Amino acid sequence: MRKTTPEFRSSQLSRMAVSAVVHGLLLSWVMIVSGFGAAVVGLRMDYYFLTCPFVDQVIKNTVFNALQADPTLAAGLVRMHFHDCFIEGCDASVLIDSTKDNTAEKDSPANLSLRGYEIIDVAKRQLEAHCPGVVSCADIVAMAARDAVFFSGGPVYDIPKGRKDGRRSKIMDTINLPAPTFNASQLTRTFGLHGFTAQEMVALSGAHTLGVARCSSFKQRLSNFDSTHNVDPSIDAIFAKTLMGTCSRGDNAEQPFDMTRNNFDNAYFNALLNKAGVLTSDQTLSTSEATMGVVKAYAMNQAIFFLDFQQAMVKMGMLDVKEGAQGEVRSDCRRINN
Ligand code: HEM
Ligand SMILES: *[C@@H]1O[C@H](CO)[C@@H](O)[C@H](O)[C@H]1NC(C)=O
Ligand SMILES: *[C@@H]1O[C@H](CO)[C@@H](O)[C@H](O)[C@H]1NC(C)=O
Repeated sequence: MRKTTPEFRSSQLSRMAVSAVVHGLLLSWVMIVSGFGAAVVGLRMDYYFLTCPFVDQVIKNTVFNALQADPTLAAGLVRMHFHDCFIEGCDASVLIDSTKDNTAEKDSPANLSLRGYEIIDVAKRQLEAHCPGVVSCADIVAMAARDAVFFSGGPVYDIPKGRKDGRRSKIMDTINLPAPTFNASQLTRTFGLHGFTAQEMVALSGAHTLGVARCSSFKQRLSNFDSTHNVDPSIDAIFAKTLMGTCSRGDNAEQPFDMTRNNFDNAYFNALLNKAGVLTSDQTLSTSEATMGVVKAYAMNQAIFFLDFQQAMVKMGMLDVKEGAQGEVRSDCRRINN
């Protein structure tokens, strides 16, 4: 048994000191990254330290329990955060239900089978019981995505908090999401508009290490592809048969992005190198000169992928966030406050 000797305690203390320094570095790094909008500087790692100290624990437990029951929901949570941040900034606009006067983002065809809303509701209910009116839905979505990555075997990272919830959610805004038919230059351009480099775009696409796509998202690659090819020539011949097999079960039939749909790993990048990418937007990353090198690096070295992914996720989580009076803390994540 390990005795709590003074040496042990002092080594713990020095570890704490190191982590405090790292924490400090991360904070200043976050402020640099958020240079786009001075307002973002208000986000802080310890934002809820005094007002809702157990927020991380409550969300971790909620996500853990949900994933124990259904591990496929990790993908849903990660994707939800992406869709939230790319439309109107990370402000939980993705959670709003449509009303009779407003069709919300959720009901866009591009809602693309988003999943995991109930997990956010459960976390929100518990947080309202502990500390009413304090924790924003936008922060819950961002933290739930972080925990989903962790519980699936991905990198551990923390994110600054203090996002406020928005009051707008309109179906037409979803037109700003990148399409699965995009090629690498279109993807680079779209992500570039949000301040991301091509390398960050590839790292973020690595989220497709989790989850599935439905046939309707890739079937255009399987017949009448272009004037000279019936089937997209960038698909491996055997994998094309796999995709056709999936589509023989209908538009909603699901195709995992890689062999380990519930594990956060670099198998997705290896699939791309084997010409077994599911979406055009996946495969194009390894066929385009500009991004091929990054795909190879991530396929060869998972640690590099993890490092780039977590940094890009922190950055994505700061997109156009609303602070202070720019937003509110919803009491029900599905409805704006009255
Ligand atoms: C690069 C541009 C991207 C495009 C074109 C794209 C497109 C898509 C499409 C079409 C699907 C399948 C939807 C369906 O058929 O039901 C999907 C699934 C998914 N996307 Fe993306 N995506 C992109 C980037 C991202 C990013 C940046 C993330 C997160 C950081 C992400 C996370 C996910 C996840 C986890 C799934 C699986 C969802 C599930 O299994 O429920 N995607 N994406
Ligand atoms: C997605 O949108 C379609 C309408 O385009 C709707 O029928 C479906 O219920 C929505 N799915 C979710 C999960 O909201
Ligand atoms: C990508 O798509 C755009 C729009 O369709 C097209 O103009 C461009 O040539 C394509 N780029 C490559 C490298 O295929």
